[in-house]
This record gives sequence, C-alpha cells and structure tokens, in this order.
Amino acid sequence: MSNIISSQTEVHKEFGGVVPELAARSHIDKIDWIVKKAIDKSGVKIDEIDAIASTAGPGLVVCLSVGLSFGKAFAYSINKPFIAVNHLEGHAISPKLTSGIEYPYLLLLISGGHSQYLNVQNIGKYKRLGTTIDDALGEAFDKTAKILGIDFPGGPQIEILASKGNPYKYDLPKPILNKGGCNLSFAGLKTAIVKIVKDIKTDQERFDLAASFQKTIEEILYKKTKIAFSEFEKQNLNKDKKFVVAGGVASNKRIRNMLIKLCKEKNYQSIFPKIEFCSDNAAMIAMVGLEKFKLKQFDHLNYPAKPRWPLDENAAFLKGAGVKL
Ligand code: KG4
Ligand code: ZN
Repeated sequence: MSNIISSQTEVHKEFGGVVPELAARSHIDKIDWIVKKAIDKSGVKIDEIDAIASTAGPGLVVCLSVGLSFGKAFAYSINKPFIAVNHLEGHAISPKLTSGIEYPYLLLLISGGHSQYLNVQNIGKYKRLGTTIDDALGEAFDKTAKILGIDFPGGPQIEILASKGNPYKYDLPKPILNKGGCNLSFAGLKTAIVKIVKDIKTDQERFDLAASFQKTIEEILYKKTKIAFSEFEKQNLNKDKKFVVAGGVASNKRIRNMLIKLCKEKNYQSIFPKIEFCSDNAAMIAMVGLEKFKLKQFDHLNYPAKPRWPLDENAAFLKGAGVKL
C-alpha cells in the first residue's frame, strides 16, 4: 500500500563504500520519519494494522537492530503479533508483489551480498543448489565500477558504460566455469581488471572493459543457469519449470534479456520482480510478513538480529581458502 525508501548513498559516497557506524546513525535518524510516512501514504489507521514485520537479518547488526527494535516496540504498543523476516526471503518472493506464483520454483538471487541458486519449495523451505565461493555478483559489479573510477555505488553504471564499448576487446577469466556444478566465483575477474586498468588511457578503453566485464558475467550466468536448471529438474520431477531472478543485480537489463532468452530455449517460464522491487525495499519484507501472517508464524519479542541467516540452513558454508568443489 506504500513502499517508502530512504537512500543512504550520499552519506557513504565520499568513503567509496558503506561505513557501518554512519549507516546505523542514519537508520536511527530516519526510522520515525519513514514509518510515519509509510503509514500516512497507505491511508491505513494504526488500529487497522494486523501485524508488524521487520527484517532481522542477515546483515550489519548495528543497522538491523534499529528497525528490529522499532518493529518490536511498535507491535508491543499496539498489541499485535510481531514477525521477524529474513531479508533474503524478501528478495525470494518479491515477484509475488505483482503476480501470483506457485511453489516450487528455481531462484537466482543476485544481490550485493549474495549470489545463489535455490530450489524454493515453500515459504521458509529452501534447498541451495549453488552459491558464490567468494564475491557476490553485485559486489563484483561495484568493485569493477570502483576500479573504473565510477562513484559508489557504481554497479548500475557499468551497464551504461558497457553499452558504449566493444565486449570482445578484453578476454577476462571465468572462474570455475567447468567445475563446481552451479556454484559461482567472481573474485578472479576483479584481479584481472585491476591489471588491465593500469594500461588503460582512453575513455573508449574504459567502455570496452566495462562491456567485456558485462559480457563475461552474462556468459558465466548462461552456463551456470543451465546447470542449475538440470539440478532443479532432478529435484522437481514433472513440476512446472519456473525461474525467478531477484535481487539488485536482477535490474541489469542485459542479464535479464539473456536469461529470458535462455528460458525460451529451455521451456522455462521466466519471472522477474518489477525493477522497483529488485533492489532493497520495504514492500518485499511486508510480503513475507503477509505470507507468514496467513500461516500464523509469529515471533517472540526477544528475536535476535542475525548477521548470518542462510535460507537453506543445511547447506555447507562454501567461502574462504580450502573450499573443495
Ligand atoms: O538487493 P540489493 O539492493 O541489496 C543487497 O541486498 O545487497 O542489491 C544491491 C546490489 C549492488 O551491488 C548494486 O551494485 C547491484 O545490486 N545492482 C546492479 C544493478 N542495479 C543494482 N548491478 C548490476 N547492474 C545493475 N543495473
Ligand atoms: Zn537485498
């Protein structure tokens, strides 16, 4: 009914990345204002609210604690149930904000902190098929942008620069392309780009590097998504083939178009959230709240903020040195 976003980009810009202490203070500064604005815009009266849902993780505890404490206090004061939401689950069901979609479906979640293929069997029920073993895809976009001299957060700018360049100019690595199933790796690309950038002199060469990076990512996702399709099919015999792509990087139009084409080739229904629901937003958290409310899945007011909260709690931790694929 309302979806208010307050961006902190300006606060962090001069530091080239998110500064946790400043992020937490900004949350405190904005929380009253943003809740009031959300309620005003929705036209709903406080006594018509059925429940309060807040993000409890994963992420920076100092930031999460602000919204979480506010949500709990609000629920307590109006004597309504409280629901703790996993931020990643918000991304996972974000297409439901605009269209009905039945479980199960294959999800590619590509954001600033996560890159995973998941078999979504129901609300709260996920099987991870693949994950990044180092950087998340959004992180790879942001780091590449920074190396190319684009202001934070530069990820979305890459696509614009790439449209002016030659994607075949630079040959970039595609780590673990032919091994590790549908697990992903992007850290090697950053290292290669750091080396190339030293010899770059013209704007055209910067555009060419952005275009080569964008193309390499598309090639990695094309190959790995095909592997994820066959793994999903093995786990969901005779079920409809549906593929959801969510998270901030899902707003990249070239990645969208490439995946739509792949879905046509492989007889999958491709489903994307509207662009405004790809990057972090309150509506997707409310959507999880609504689904959990219908199932009466409420939480206690002592629910903790969680820095780490995987959607598939049984999946192995696959980061750092010594990872075996
Ligand atoms: O989901 P999100 O808003 O926040 C997290 O949960 O992390 O994702 C943010 C990430 C950032 O890394 C940002 O650079 C990336 O999504 N992103 C993009 C585009 N728009 C946002 N990456 C590539 N192309 C885009 N058009
Ligand atoms: Zn997110």
